[in-house]
This record gives sequence, C-alpha cells and structure tokens, in this order.
Amino acid sequence: MTKIAVLGYGTVGSGVALCFDENGAQIEDSCGDKIEIKYILDLRDFPGDKHEDKVVHDFDIILNDPEVEVICETMGGIEPAFTFEKKALMSGKSVCTSNKELVAAHGPELVELAAQNNVSYLFEASVGGGIPVLRSMNDSIRHEKVDSITGILNGTTNYILTKMDQEGADFDSVLKIAQEKGYAERNPEADIEGHDACRKTAILASIMSGQFVKYEDIYTEGITKISGEDFAYARSLKMAIKLLGSCKRENGKFFAMVAPFMIPFDNSLATVNGVFNAIDVHGNMLGDVMYYGKGAGKEATASAVVADVIDIVKHKGKHIDWNLKNVEATVASKDDDVRSFFVRADEAAKDKAKELFEGLSEVSCDSVKGEFAFITSEITEKEFEAKYKELTGAKSYIRML
Ligand code: HSE
Repeated sequence: MTKIAVLGYGTVGSGVALCFDENGAQIEDSCGDKIEIKYILDLRDFPGDKHEDKVVHDFDIILNDPEVEVICETMGGIEPAFTFEKKALMSGKSVCTSNKELVAAHGPELVELAAQNNVSYLFEASVGGGIPVLRSMNDSIRHEKVDSITGILNGTTNYILTKMDQEGADFDSVLKIAQEKGYAERNPEADIEGHDACRKTAILASIMSGQFVKYEDIYTEGITKISGEDFAYARSLKMAIKLLGSCKRENGKFFAMVAPFMIPFDNSLATVNGVFNAIDVHGNMLGDVMYYGKGAGKEATASAVVADVIDIVKHKGKHIDWNLKNVEATVASKDDDVRSFFVRADEAAKDKAKELFEGLSEVSCDSVKGEFAFITSEITEKEFEAKYKELTGAKSYIRML
C-alpha cells in the first residue's frame, strides 16, 4: 500500500481523486500496489464531497506523516507550491505536479533536489495536459538526438484561432465566446499573449537540451494581432495560422520561440483544431513523431498526474532520472534565426517592397483589396526587422513554418 497526498482540490486535484475512484483497479494492476489518497490539502472545506474527511488545511500534517510517500502538487503558481515541493523532496517524499509555472521556473533545481534525496520529481501534466510527451522523451526516445520540437501547446489560443478561421470571426468576438464557454479565463492574458505556451516551451526545450532553458530567454508573441484578413490570405495560400512553441538546434545554436506561424495544410500541425494540443518531435534516427491529445481539462490532466504517481510507485526507493542538468542553457538570439515571412502592406508600398525584399512572391486574396501582400525569401530575423522598418505602409507580418 502506498499513501499519497494531493495539494489543491481544484480542477486538476479533484480530477486526480476522480481518477483513483474510477480507475483504482487499473492503477493497482499497473504498479502492483494499492494506492490510497490519505490527505487533500486545501484552504476550503468540501462538505458532502466523497473525500471531505481527507481534507486538511495545514501542510505540516502531510509533511510530518511518514506514511505519505508521494505528493501530487496541483495547486499551481509559484508560492506556496515551491516551498511545499522543496520540503516534501527534502523529507524523502516524491513529488509529481501539473504546475507549469513552477516547473518552468525551478524544474531543474527540483529534479536535482529529488536526486539528492533519492526520490523522484515528475511533471508530465505540466506540458500538453494528458499527452504523454515528457515520459516518452525521457524514456522511449531518450536515445534520439532531438533536433527540433514544434508544438501547439495552448488550447485556449488554438480554440480562438480555429473559430476565427472556420467562422471568419474577429479575435475579440471569438475571445468573448471562448470566455463564455469556459475555454478562456476571465483574465486571458497568460494564454493570448503566449506566456502559457512559453512556460511549456521552456520545459520541452530544457528536456531537449538537457539544460535549464529559462522562459525569460524565449522570445514570445501572442495572437492578439491576428485578424480575419490574415486567415483569408492564409486560406488562399493553403495554410493555417497556429500559435507555435518551438525549439531547435541549427548551425550549432539553440533557438526557442513562441509566435503565430503560417503552416501549410499538408503539415499535420495544421489539422489540429479546437482545444487540442499537438507536439512534433524530430529525432535524428526516428524522424518526426507527433503527440496529439487534450492539452487541458480536469480528467485528461489528472490522468497524466496519476501516470506519474504510478511511475514513482513502480520505482520506489529509486530516483527516476531526467536528462536535465541544473545548468543554464544558452539560447541564441532570434536575430540569427532564418525563415520566410508573410507581409501585408498598403498597395502603394509595392515598389519599395520589391526593392527591399529581393525575390519576394506576391500573394493575392479575393476578399482583401487595396493591399500588397507577399512572402519573403528566407532571411534572418534581424535582416527582416530592418527591412520591415524601412517599408513605409507595412501593416503586419506572420512567420512561415
Ligand atoms: N490555459 C491552458 C490552455 C490550460 O489553454 O492550454 C492548460 O495548461
């Protein structure tokens, strides 16, 4: 018998309890041990809830109970989650978490602390909700030389972009619908400005590089400037527009970025719609492998937390190691990153655009008039920025995958 505690009885924490209620037999079968939730930590009480008798308000009760071997931290945010996790690891309890903010900010340090105390620190649910991408990277494809990861990592923005595309609606009205349906937060900034995808990209980039990629080093743009006209152009090019989190090794440099991209329809990422997430990992031997599924939601995210608990129970007495050192990675400036850009400008900017962007390809679209739109040839971000600044009448641009 293994006793565990759940910190935070919100969406994910209550989902973890539900998963144990629903799938107890499968869980026991998969790890050869019975697992019981002994405590649930929350500020609130839950009268009438099936697990109300497990609720405690003082973390020390859990910390000082030697019977508790695993802690599921599903509170979110940096504090007090960081302090609780550190104390748990230092007292010989393994920790698994869905807390992307904390893993992005302190993951490598917590993995190191777990190793020092011969326990484990797992965080499958912090990226892609229920999608088993991190365990796969750490286990099934750990031998690969991964050279790129490209993912749709935020369900809210993918829902908004999908609706804008399918219904020809503008950003503000779709955001409002998303909020009404509960797909977007009342304060949607973390999602629509790309900060959430940035945290998840930082975690993936750290696992890929084996070093601590700081989220502050990742250039991040959100989707607030994408318009209905951009989708009209994209359709004429047989492309979708998606918010991508990406990292890659190229010419000896490590790049990471979060931004909206135009993606050709024949790229599988273009077909990922609504609140779903997908992550394409490219390995030198394997080629592309794509992970797809629900990137958010109570049951899916809780399923990933429970998978971590099972892994920990199966490895009792051992530290599950990650290819991840607590050493800061060097992320190259985006200035040196090379790609094509889709640009929209006033019609009057045509001649100047042709002069500045040698080899551009014109793009036309029946529903947008009075503009000159084009795709640049491959160019560094730095060169592009300089030329774009010089282009009087330039309106907007989107990167091309
Ligand atoms: N707000 C996040 C999303 C939740 O939309 O993907 C899951 O991390």
